[in-house]
Amino acid sequence: MSRSAHPAGPRHADVFPEGHYSAPPADLNALDPKVWAQTVERDADGVVTVGGMAVTRLAEEYGTPAYVLDEADFRARARAWRTAFGTDADVFYAGKAFLSRAVVRWLDEEGLNLDVCSGGELATALSAGMPADRIAFHGNNKSPEEIERAVRAGVGRIVLDSFQEIVRVAHIAQSLGVRQRVQIRITVGVEAHTHEFIATAHEDQKFGIPLAGGQAAEAVRRALQLDGLEVIGIHSHIGSQIFDMSGFEVAAHRVVALLKDIRDEHGVELPEIDLGGGLGIAYTSDDDPCEPHEIAKALTEIVTRECEGARLRTPRISVEPGRAIVGPTAFTLYEVGTVKPLDGLRTYVSVDGGMSDNIRTALYDAEYSVALVSRASDAESMLVRVVGKHCESGDIVVKDAFLPGDLAPGDLIAVPATGAYCRSMASNYNHVLRPPVVAVRDGEARVIVRRETEEDLLRLDVG
Ligand code: LLP
Repeated sequence: MSRSAHPAGPRHADVFPEGHYSAPPADLNALDPKVWAQTVERDADGVVTVGGMAVTRLAEEYGTPAYVLDEADFRARARAWRTAFGTDADVFYAGKAFLSRAVVRWLDEEGLNLDVCSGGELATALSAGMPADRIAFHGNNKSPEEIERAVRAGVGRIVLDSFQEIVRVAHIAQSLGVRQRVQIRITVGVEAHTHEFIATAHEDQKFGIPLAGGQAAEAVRRALQLDGLEVIGIHSHIGSQIFDMSGFEVAAHRVVALLKDIRDEHGVELPEIDLGGGLGIAYTSDDDPCEPHEIAKALTEIVTRECEGARLRTPRISVEPGRAIVGPTAFTLYEVGTVKPLDGLRTYVSVDGGMSDNIRTALYDAEYSVALVSRASDAESMLVRVVGKHCESGDIVVKDAFLPGDLAPGDLIAVPATGAYCRSMASNYNHVLRPPVVAVRDGEARVIVRRETEEDLLRLDVG
């Protein structure tokens, strides 16, 4: 690997645009445990290791770019959620964040349930042996075929998202001679402080049935009358990458108020509420996420208090964390291809992946951090923008960051906290091949999703 120095461009923040870094970090070789997977460390030679394996060896064996996932960390986070909520609650991992058959097995072993939102995710879950009664099926436009497959498989709950779907699921279930357990997804009118595209509980959007104007109450009224449905609860998901618990508290308050209205009108106490996912993680050192036990305590307390006030039996709570479990457990390993200093601006560092393996920066203006991982360096820091290889100037992986000024082609850099919504949102833009997911544990690595090949691309192109 080349170690040659090169003109590094501006080294300080004099040209720095608005961003979260006001100054370079004191030590560019340090790895903030907040943003890196638990077993990541730098060894005595300066090479970063994960699960006891050097990234240089991973790059040699599996190539770059690659998502590298710390299995012990995944299991530990899954377990922390499970333990925090205890046996009186259920944790459904949100498969949309990242799903593979290995992940399904880990979840099963760690005692978590699974939320799927498409036929593809359902197929993955079932093929890996997740018991169907521990699967929840979501989506604002499930097809009749998907609904039928879910009902036939015996999924534990289908989360109903519209008036039409209430009738559709009831009809399909009844025709199969099944009384399907369902929850009704409502929007509680909370504005979660997050990006507009990932906030979901305000009313002007496609998910759920608004509480406002009595629509949610009407949905429950209709569902309770249908023989094909067993209404077991109310569902609310307020958004994603949330740090402020107050939105969940307002949501819990409004969901319990609806449970009370349902009890008063129908004499029925629904036994479950699901408060969705959405807990934020640290993408950079500036982010301070809550711990699962803090969330569990806050949610349990508020639901219990509100139910006591309304003289309701406390329902069984469930939550659906995706990002908070898998997000911090993986990083994307890239090889530096070109380093281009632009006088008076910044240095562009091009890597061998980009927006096809991480669309979040382009789509949500997401912030990431980055580190040189194949060696340590005591060179002065330089201001960089890490960009991909796609034919698009918005192909940015890390918008503003600092890397050592002697960074050179052939160096390996890694972007932490890419476990959630990177592989699952990956594309083939420019016919770039999607990277593998390599799981590492106790000094051993294993490919859990293999790298795409040109044959894979051509197989779909039937000429
Ligand atoms: N439950 C429901 C019903 C959801 O819609 C979601 C996420 C979750 C749970 C899990 O949320 P999490 O704990 O992972 O935040 N692509 C976006 C995120 C979209 C989230 C969609 N729904 C991103 O990359 O930030």
